[in-house]
Amino acid sequence: MADTGSDDARRGLFAGKVVLVTGGGSGIGEATARAFAAEGAAVALCDLSAETAGRAAEAIGAMHFALDVRDGAAVAAMIDAVVERHGRLDVAVNNAGIGGSGVPLAEIPEDNFDRVMSTNIKGVWQCMRHEIPVMLRGGGGAIVNLASAMGLVGRANSADYVATKHAVMGLTRSAALEYSALGIRINAVCPGVIDTPLIQERAAKPGFLEALSALHPIGRFGRVDDVAEAILWLASSRSSFVTGIGMPVDGGWTAG
Ligand SMILES: NC(=O)c1ccc[n+]([C@@H]2O[C@H](COP(=O)([O-])OP(=O)(O)OC[C@H]3O[C@@H](n4cnc5c(N)ncnc54)[C@H](O)[C@@H]3O)[C@@H](O)[C@H]2O)c1
Repeated sequence: MADTGSDDARRGLFAGKVVLVTGGGSGIGEATARAFAAEGAAVALCDLSAETAGRAAEAIGAMHFALDVRDGAAVAAMIDAVVERHGRLDVAVNNAGIGGSGVPLAEIPEDNFDRVMSTNIKGVWQCMRHEIPVMLRGGGGAIVNLASAMGLVGRANSADYVATKHAVMGLTRSAALEYSALGIRINAVCPGVIDTPLIQERAAKPGFLEALSALHPIGRFGRVDDVAEAILWLASSRSSFVTGIGMPVDGGWTAG
């Protein structure tokens, strides 16, 4: 008899599930939103501009929102709108984030420092604090935060960014301790260098790409789909005993 595969495989791993991806207009977030949609999820995504969010959403029939994840009222309104449309929220991927200043610690401009802290830390907290109550009401869920290999190790000329990604690990681990017994698994992914606009915008700096490339024993930069695959696994029932981790998706960077 032919192998017809599991119910999950036939219907899509996320059929019937409602998924929110922040920063879903570009790079890892866009690929992740696409991957969830391909697995049958109802997807909502947000980004800073309506144009960016709308373009990504249109391709996969997703709801979309233009907002700044630092704005708690806007995040709350988005989640209300998702629940109004779909009745629940099963998965949230808190992906929106920005790069650091790329200079030694003492030379980081204060406004840059504040901007990366508020986007990468407060933005994730704003999203989590509005996602969690809705998931609790729905009986559980899964949250995947975007940390970084730089959430696990330090790196010169990256203190501001490194600090924010260590903080994302702190939020992830602490919230996992608080909410796992209540049905919400909370994990992070820790990508190495992934070829996205965030990286390409610095490619002109002499030696920048070469130095980054050398960090990866596997011999290449990551692809957005490498990260999306890990996020989908962490968000799925296939990882039902996994919570509070930061999963490296880093070509071996942090193995050394
Ligand atoms: N690219 C990498 O090498 C890499 C490695 C490790 C971790 N990460 C993390 O992965 C996440 C996605 O990175 P990417 O490389 O896909 O970047 P990207 O710049 O391609 O995409 C990030 C998206 O987030 C949006 N965004 C930024 N600030 C926002 C805000 N305040 N509110 C709403 N949306 C906002 C941007 O407009 C953009 O569309 C980030 O958290 C980043 O730190 C990236």
